[in-house]
Amino acid sequence: MNTLNNVKLIDIPKVHDERGFLAVIEKKSIPFVIKRVYYLYDVPTESSRGGHAHKEQQSLIIALSGSFEVVVDDGKIKKRIMLNKPNQGLYIPTHIWREIDNFSSGSVCLVLASTEYDEVEYIRKYDDFINQFSG
Ligand code: TYD
Repeated sequence: MNTLNNVKLIDIPKVHDERGFLAVIEKKSIPFVIKRVYYLYDVPTESSRGGHAHKEQQSLIIALSGSFEVVVDDGKIKKRIMLNKPNQGLYIPTHIWREIDNFSSGSVCLVLASTEYDEVEYIRKYDDFINQFSG
């Protein structure tokens, strides 16, 4: 079972010249093969997103623009991590509860996922997470 020790900030390689920055994510840079990409935008500051864990899905969460905070929780320990760099991703393995809040105005939260969308692999009740899956 995963714990917060398996949650990692990953630096995304970038190329800079006078025209600006180019960041690139290749297969070798992240611990899973990407099957899906989705993003959150126009999120009200007071919104809380996430509120689930996954049985199968691994994710990389990137603040493509602006900032927000991710609370990761392995059932024993919780940690709040601010994401505000488009060249940094938060890797979340399976069986880690996450909540995302404090979205800045205009922020964009990009999520790279290892699975296609399948509601069956979500753990959406915190009690279920604690009882069955927490590390
Ligand atoms: P939800 O899991 O609540 O989003 P978040 O974790 O970002 O707060 O998903 C919101 C809705 O969107 C829910 O009805 C499921 C649907 N959805 C899809 O149809 N496909 C997807 O890839 C995702 C991530 C969600």
